[in-house]
Amino acid sequence: MSKPKVFVTRAIPEKGFAIVRDFCDVDLWPEELPPGRDELLKRVRGIDGLLCLLTDKIDGEVMDEAGLHLKVISNHAVGFDNIDVPAATARKIPVGNTPDVLTDATADFAFALLLAVARRIPESERYVKAGNWKTWGPMTFLGVDIKGATLGLVGFGRIGKAVARRALGFEMRVIYYDPSEKKPSSDLKATRVDFETLLRESDFISLHTPLTPDTRYLIDSEALSKMKPNAVLVNTARGPIVEPEALYEALKEKRIFGAGLDVTDPEPLPLGNPLLTLDNVIIVPHVASASTSSRAQMSWMAAQNLVAGLKGERLPNCVNPQVYAQK
Ligand code: DGY
Repeated sequence: MSKPKVFVTRAIPEKGFAIVRDFCDVDLWPEELPPGRDELLKRVRGIDGLLCLLTDKIDGEVMDEAGLHLKVISNHAVGFDNIDVPAATARKIPVGNTPDVLTDATADFAFALLLAVARRIPESERYVKAGNWKTWGPMTFLGVDIKGATLGLVGFGRIGKAVARRALGFEMRVIYYDPSEKKPSSDLKATRVDFETLLRESDFISLHTPLTPDTRYLIDSEALSKMKPNAVLVNTARGPIVEPEALYEALKEKRIFGAGLDVTDPEPLPLGNPLLTLDNVIIVPHVASASTSSRAQMSWMAAQNLVAGLKGERLPNCVNPQVYAQK
């Protein structure tokens, strides 16, 4: 019997790819950069399954181009704002994602950014490497304290809670804002507050909410103007949750202390972007989940979702379970 045809839009770790290769007839996009729109539309024609990344925009046009055989879309990420999920649901196509396995890696990284901005680590390292270290200085590279500070989490799902656990170890006070939470969480010493209170009271704000129409530019100039002058903003969620021009102005005018960005708007950030000229921001290339084991687990989960969908089984992690109710 012939194997199902799948398009895999980039090389993924072997742990997951081995499963895909065994079960499917694979067309693997071999380049380092994602397929362009035309290539994507061409390569999906006639496939049974699609394993894609957050860099691929998968909308109704892509689904229609793939055609009626398309049984599953498996995203190699927990976030799925790159996929038009309602369009998939309308076509009865289940969409898979990879929750849990990157929670700790991402929370570790958010905390690493928080510490690095607060204690100005990259800035002081640049100073040493530029040959500026002449003596010990009582006022050189003063940062902000962590212990006793208030951490405000925007989003209190898996990753937000994992960051809270780390913060409690550092003896921080933790508050959070999460409008999607049904009833206040009691499993951690963290207090639910409204958005205004979070902005006003936090020394550190870390974003852990999905990108939706409601969260796009949630951190705009108004939100930034309510933050404390010593506030540090950390974003490991999605770039467009923060309005980049507003953040640039706030950082340039030192209206907040600093920012740590794993994600940006746009991505990648072009070299001419003014944020790159500032010392009080750390910018890294969307790598918060990039530990070897977490990426291997993500590939494994993405493969499990793909294969389940191809077999007509329920995806282990499905973001639009309504498709099953429709069947
Ligand atoms: C995700 O999975 O959504 C992260 O942003 C990348 O690992």
